[in-house]
Amino acid sequence: MEDYYSLAVQNLLSFRASLFAVIPVLLLLLGLATRLRRRPPYPPGPPGLPLIGNMLMMDQLTHRGLAKLAKKYGGIFHLRMGRLHVVAVTSPDVVQQVLQVYDHIFSNRPASIAIRYLTYDRADMAFAHYGPFWRQMRKICVMKLFSRKRAESWASVRDEVDDLIRMVAASVGQPVNIGELIFGLTMNITYRAAFGSSCKDGQEEFIRILQEFSKLFGAFNMADFIPYLGWVDPQGLNSRLVKARRSLDRFIDTIIDDHIKKRNEGGGGDEADTDMVDDLLAFFSEESAKVSESTEDLHHSIKLTRDNIKAVIMDVMFGGTETVASAIEWTMAELMRSTVDLKKVQQELAEVVGLHRRIHEADLEKLTYLRCTLSRRPSASTHRFPSSSMRPPRTL
Ligand code: HEM
Repeated sequence: MEDYYSLAVQNLLSFRASLFAVIPVLLLLLGLATRLRRRPPYPPGPPGLPLIGNMLMMDQLTHRGLAKLAKKYGGIFHLRMGRLHVVAVTSPDVVQQVLQVYDHIFSNRPASIAIRYLTYDRADMAFAHYGPFWRQMRKICVMKLFSRKRAESWASVRDEVDDLIRMVAASVGQPVNIGELIFGLTMNITYRAAFGSSCKDGQEEFIRILQEFSKLFGAFNMADFIPYLGWVDPQGLNSRLVKARRSLDRFIDTIIDDHIKKRNEGGGGDEADTDMVDDLLAFFSEESAKVSESTEDLHHSIKLTRDNIKAVIMDVMFGGTETVASAIEWTMAELMRSTVDLKKVQQELAEVVGLHRRIHEADLEKLTYLRCTLSRRPSASTHRFPSSSMRPPRTL
């Protein structure tokens, strides 16, 4: 009887042990089944491998490669990059749904580890999530940073154009690299608009910082796709990110401190002397960022931190330099290809402006052919020859 009893107890214990081993597996399967049942299917797409999904196709995902895949799988197709699900939208109808009809749902941008770190965790405008901060930030940009009044006050910026024209004039008869010259011009203009003319000394250092940021933004980082492999980091990206942001901190903090000193000493009141740092400092708070939409007065509804100011300046440097340079370069290239248009533009400029002075804003009204060329070419520049071949990605 005793043997029978101990056998029963033993059986019960081993049953309990196997139950404990089986329950987690059952729960896992149940969870998986529920998730699979709840999740609507993804759009069609090329089959992927376990764990890495379609990552081996990464080098094919240019605008042309995506167009090829769209021919095979349709105007909306799905790819899996490690843990990330990516949906490529190419047909105009679906694009309209995503960017217009359901824009409020898809208006956020995904940010890689590098983007999050280098934008001080989305303290800028380009990567801020859609919401009160983004809306108020946009108001600051429209009303202060990019306003017409502001642009007209950048008198010093015209010196940059003069320098470029003098340089080209001195090279008559020799080839010049328009792309390089224009990129230098937009970089100088944006730099001066952001920091003012007096900071020109540090410009080369700042360009080096921007170049490193640019490399880091574009670098392939395994941890973005398979997070638990982040520790491997064969390219040393993690330490490069820390170093790059530290360099930017050192650089812009000094400029911000100088601007604060100038403000406290009562300088910088004249709008022609102010730059973007001055404009942003008007919303500066030593404590923390604050935002509310309850009042129309921007100064009461938003407060920016140093990180916000640094991140927004970086947006402007990245957003305003290469894009504008590419648009100008493509426009010039197209004009050079069409000698008839080029001659007409030159003739009109000679008649309206003459050959001995620079164009002023007021001339533009009379330069009908030039205006038509610019409004046609930039659309050609941005659509046929976009400065970036794809629209930035969106996320839910
Ligand atoms: C020809 C010149 C330009 C082109 C082709 C261009 C193109 C673009 C595109 C395609 C976007 C993304 C829009 C979207 O998400 O749907 C964008 C956003 C942006 N651009 Fe530009 N851009 C140009 C000039 C500039 C300039 C001069 C600046 C600044 C000085 C600038 C700053 C920005 C910023 C801050 C954003 C983010 C806006 C937001 O999040 O709402 N861009 N640009």
